[in-house]
Amino acid sequence: MRNRFNNITSKEWLPFQKSWFFHQSDEALYRSNLRFFMRLDGSLPKHVLYWGDPEGLKQMRRVCRELGITLHGPKARHVPALQFIFLDLRQMLDTASVTAYRRLKDEVVGILERHYAQLIDRRFLAVAHRNLISRGRYLPFAWDLSQTLATGLSRKDEKIGCYPDGRLPSRGRMPFVVSNYYLSYFRKDEESTGRFRMDATGYLGHEAPPAHFKPDKNYLILRPKRRGQDEILHPAKFPEEIARYFIEKFSLPGDNIFDPMSGTCSTQLAALQTGRNGYGTELSDFFLKIGRKRLSDFPKGDNVTYRVIRKDARKITKRDFPPIDYVFTSPPYWDMLNMKGAENQAARKARGLQLNYSDDRNDLGNIADYETFVRELRDIYFRLWRYMKPGAHLTIIVKNIKKKGKRYPLAFDLARQLAPRFYLLPEFFWLQDDQRLAPYGYGYTWVSNTFHQYCLTFRKRPDE
Ligand SMILES: C[S@@+](CC[C@H](N)C(=O)[O-])C[C@H]1O[C@@H](n2cnc3c(N)ncnc32)[C@H](O)[C@@H]1O
Repeated sequence: MRNRFNNITSKEWLPFQKSWFFHQSDEALYRSNLRFFMRLDGSLPKHVLYWGDPEGLKQMRRVCRELGITLHGPKARHVPALQFIFLDLRQMLDTASVTAYRRLKDEVVGILERHYAQLIDRRFLAVAHRNLISRGRYLPFAWDLSQTLATGLSRKDEKIGCYPDGRLPSRGRMPFVVSNYYLSYFRKDEESTGRFRMDATGYLGHEAPPAHFKPDKNYLILRPKRRGQDEILHPAKFPEEIARYFIEKFSLPGDNIFDPMSGTCSTQLAALQTGRNGYGTELSDFFLKIGRKRLSDFPKGDNVTYRVIRKDARKITKRDFPPIDYVFTSPPYWDMLNMKGAENQAARKARGLQLNYSDDRNDLGNIADYETFVRELRDIYFRLWRYMKPGAHLTIIVKNIKKKGKRYPLAFDLARQLAPRFYLLPEFFWLQDDQRLAPYGYGYTWVSNTFHQYCLTFRKRPDE
């Protein structure tokens, strides 16, 4: 069957589906995107609009020549029908100030409003951009721009580009300490208007990362050991490896580690493995039983202890646990487990495994309304804030969600919602490299396999 989206084979289609990749060169980045988002068989005009820094432009010219594509700049007066727009903003700021960023955002929106009409229906815009850390401030510009662009185009997906040796090279002078960039993808379709709202999205101006956590890379690739029989029963368990990594960074031996949504008690197990105490709550009796068994099987030392109780996390009180040094946790990813056909669900069903956490109406995974879900979740973390020691940290493993072709940026939304009580630290990714890719959307649109999880870390703000 002929592939109407980009006339490439399914073999070529698959590698592009992974939601993170190692950056090789700008040229390779441009080539893979042009090849994926354009039909080059002559059935559509081969025109692309590109904006980037002079070095990027040179690379883009070369790739367009090679693929027989006509390149247009953002200032061109008469642009023909466009198959694809690529904005490479990674090197476009020479000062990490909010004012400079706002100017850049104005320019980007201006370009898109001018050329929106020319973009062919159901064709894509890709933006390469990044968050910055500069002079003790964390500036999530990429998140802010993504929110703004989503007001005028359909936000479809994102990919994370990672620099293998850590630091993101800068063609200017600025020492940015980030090792990833975002590729944010948008589509022109029946949901989009081409008019963008510039109102503040609340991401700008966060505090500095703490001095003791300066990883040389802001991602961790894990190939966790195989899960045991009882662990597989839980539909969304995270590996102890990721919990251990963070617990060791943000707490000391003897500290009290807490997880309000313990599932199979991976956080508490990682706490015991690293000489910390493990505390927590969990709503489901079924998972708690599995978790307690795992904890009691672990030969813990005399100096550490654990306690996980069955309780709705929204009802935790001061009497339940001693003061908390560090929270490591992962919520239900909204009601995704209740969605038929969600990633992995069909395969689990075939094996007779549990598909969702429970049918309990207190289970946050059963809240159908997105806004309500985010609010309830926020309230749980706000409640924990009271029981955390001064300056204690909280790490939440979460991802941006795709549901019925729409995108819900749960990671960005949570980061913003928690701001009144917590400082946000620079983003960190847990990258999955042990799962099989599926050719979602083959032949008609692009849908990634989400293999990157955000590890959002916050520091408790003092009481005002
Ligand atoms: C992503 S899973 C956590 C998995 C866990 N980290 C592990 O490794 O096993 C989310 C958990 O939140 C629990 N949960 C949902 N609503 C809850 C609530 N209101 N209070 C406490 N736990 C809840 C679910 O039962 C589920 O086990």
